[in-house]
Amino acid sequence: EVTRSYDPAYMNTVACISKISYIDGDKGILEYRGIPIAQLAEKSSFLETAFLVIFGELPNPKQLKTFTKKVMTHSSYHDGLEKFISAFRHDSHPMGMMSTLMAAMSTFYPEANPAYVGANIYKDKKERNKHIYRILGSAPAIAAACYRHKLGLPLNKPNENLGYVENFLFMMDKHVTDTDYKPHPSITKALEILFILHAEHELNCSTAAIRHMSSSQSDIYTSLAGAITALYGPRHGGANEAVLRMLEQIGSKDKIPQFIQDVKDRKKLLMGFGHRVYKNYDPRAVIVKRTAEEVFSIVGKEPMIEIAMELERIALSDEYFIKRKLYPNVDFYSGVIYKALGIPTEFFTVLFTLPRIAGWLAHWYEFLDDPVNNIVRPRQIYKGYTKRDYVPMDQRK
Ligand code: CMC
Repeated sequence: EVTRSYDPAYMNTVACISKISYIDGDKGILEYRGIPIAQLAEKSSFLETAFLVIFGELPNPKQLKTFTKKVMTHSSYHDGLEKFISAFRHDSHPMGMMSTLMAAMSTFYPEANPAYVGANIYKDKKERNKHIYRILGSAPAIAAACYRHKLGLPLNKPNENLGYVENFLFMMDKHVTDTDYKPHPSITKALEILFILHAEHELNCSTAAIRHMSSSQSDIYTSLAGAITALYGPRHGGANEAVLRMLEQIGSKDKIPQFIQDVKDRKKLLMGFGHRVYKNYDPRAVIVKRTAEEVFSIVGKEPMIEIAMELERIALSDEYFIKRKLYPNVDFYSGVIYKALGIPTEFFTVLFTLPRIAGWLAHWYEFLDDPVNNIVRPRQIYKGYTKRDYVPMDQRK
């Protein structure tokens, strides 16, 4: 007889064996492939971290050079996407656009689709890598195109000679016509740090989704569209957008006690607080907070930071939050930085999506090599009717 356990939100279900990232939620530790997140934030670049996360080791100089070249030569997206982009309304949410465009990409690359070519296509690592380069390379350009379309700006072309994050900032710049233009190095560094911090986080909702979808042998582009959808929600990546809206709604420090009371009365949630795994300060939040100060020293202080810091101070000394071990997570301070950089609030979760693609691809890669990569298919407990007969229409009440 099989004993099955009821675990609706998978609080206690272990779904895979992974070597990608390690979290100790009680101690507030996060490591990618064994390397502490603080060391990577300080010393690494996003592309180097992406290589580490996906392939398992830090690249040597030659590997990093080749990887960077392969990714950057894919930094233009397929022409066919332009028609999709132009069809979006100007008030479309960018995460809806990103998810749609990623799914659309699958239709331009039928050779990546197991439905046409069989699932064995992904056994070939060269074939896998081709998609990894293309997806990592073109995602920032797709994101920038969504942004430009919404603002009514002409779409532009990437500059492959810039660094990965630098090129993204270049493509996002409202005024850029000058190909020699370079974003401020400290802003690039700050965004690089944020990208590293967001690259991977074991089996969160969207990463679990990519494994789930890959298990049915959907192609990688459509699977990524699904992961983007999972990240979109305010309980997950959408929290960075929700935090900023919350701070703006609170508006001033004197309104914080009332807001906290509303949270305790369960009328509201303190967005950017709490985590399924961390029952301590999220190690990423510490670095994000520090990065915020660096960004402010260049572009000026974002007034919402005062409300955020006061909110944190009050919450961390309140019994409600202490008892439940609720601490700021990665999304609490990131939005304040994006706001200071002039990025529209609805775009924040896209800035989470771009780096997390590395983590999703790493889990896809690992899943493909897992000897136990059966289709994910949980069971349910049925509590509906027992067998009964069909009632003809004229006999129904
Ligand atoms: N504000 C107020 N109360 C909270 C919050 C919050 N943000 N988060 C959890 N709680 C309470 C919750 O009501 C529950 O109380 P009780 O036991 O009395 O019913 C207790 O804390 C445990 O919370 P839970 O909802 O059972 O925890 P969970 O692991 O199911 O949910 C979470 C985790 C992240 C979805 C949740 O904390 C939340 O909704 N936070 C706000 C949204 C947010 O910041 N999300 C970003 C997460 S980190 C980055 C990412 O994944 O993208």
